Amino acid sequence: MSTTEVRDEPYHANGIPPPNLDLPYPDSPGEITASLLKLTELAPNPRTRFVFKNLISKLHEFISETNITTEEWRSGIEFLTSLNEALTPGPRGQELNLLSDAFGVTALLERLNNPRIGNATESSALGPFFTEDAPDFLFGESIASEGIGEYMFVEGRVLTTGGEPIPGAVIETWEAFGTGLYDIQNAERTGPECRGRLRTDEEGKYGYRAIVPVPYAIPEDDPVCRLLQSLGRPAVQSGHVHVIVHAPGFHKLVTMLYPEDDPYFSTSVAQGVKKSLIVKLTEIDDETDARKRGFQKGTKFKLLNYDFVLLTEDEWAGART
Ligand SMILES: [Fe+2]
Repeated sequence: MSTTEVRDEPYHANGIPPPNLDLPYPDSPGEITASLLKLTELAPNPRTRFVFKNLISKLHEFISETNITTEEWRSGIEFLTSLNEALTPGPRGQELNLLSDAFGVTALLERLNNPRIGNATESSALGPFFTEDAPDFLFGESIASEGIGEYMFVEGRVLTTGGEPIPGAVIETWEAFGTGLYDIQNAERTGPECRGRLRTDEEGKYGYRAIVPVPYAIPEDDPVCRLLQSLGRPAVQSGHVHVIVHAPGFHKLVTMLYPEDDPYFSTSVAQGVKKSLIVKLTEIDDETDARKRGFQKGTKFKLLNYDFVLLTEDEWAGART
């Protein structure tokens, strides 16, 4: 439309005409909330309507109950803007993921959506560092290049809840380097590092070389690090190795294993450490064993032994109804 043409229809910027609603004028705080809640009734999807009405109610309640000042709110907006501008190398959305971690939302959602069922291995959040390009590798091979961390051998079985082995189960695993950074946090990444995919053998066994996970700090120039600092909380995630296990007919398990004796379990930024996922690392100081397992230097290494227990899809569905 040119600037001289007169509109003969009401202007619908997003294709939605002005609603025929009798909304109160926002003369008081209560009327602002009431008006917006009524307006949200227009959402065509019932679930969207329900979620947004709750969100608006709680948000307005929060503003009123805390007497947030305009300056405080503006500093909150500035913080959110700084998340967008953060230059930390890594996947898109990592900053918001971290914020979700810091507020305990990731852990809460994970708990609510994945309750513990019988003797099945508990799940954990996926996190922002999973990639699709992990290479396939064979029993005993390494997911990590030489010299990027302390030696660790991970082994165990994948079992049903009845203790039967699951052959051919796919295990996808990834972890940070000994420096605490994932490969995709390196702007010069040329390919996958510290990640891989293998299958269990006929007896449901798996085994691979990796490195000992270390607690890692959120970089100091990161906005979430500054937020945690202002809250007096350590900006550290507990050390962990990520594992996804799946097999036909079984419910996909997404989890992490945390080596014991980590001082950051209870204060870990993501608040996601489940007791059943804390594992013991046994130190093996045996050159022959180290060389047999493929550790080049033949020095001591840590052994992590863990059996993953999967639910069948039926067990999963049955426990959720
Ligand atoms: Fe992680």
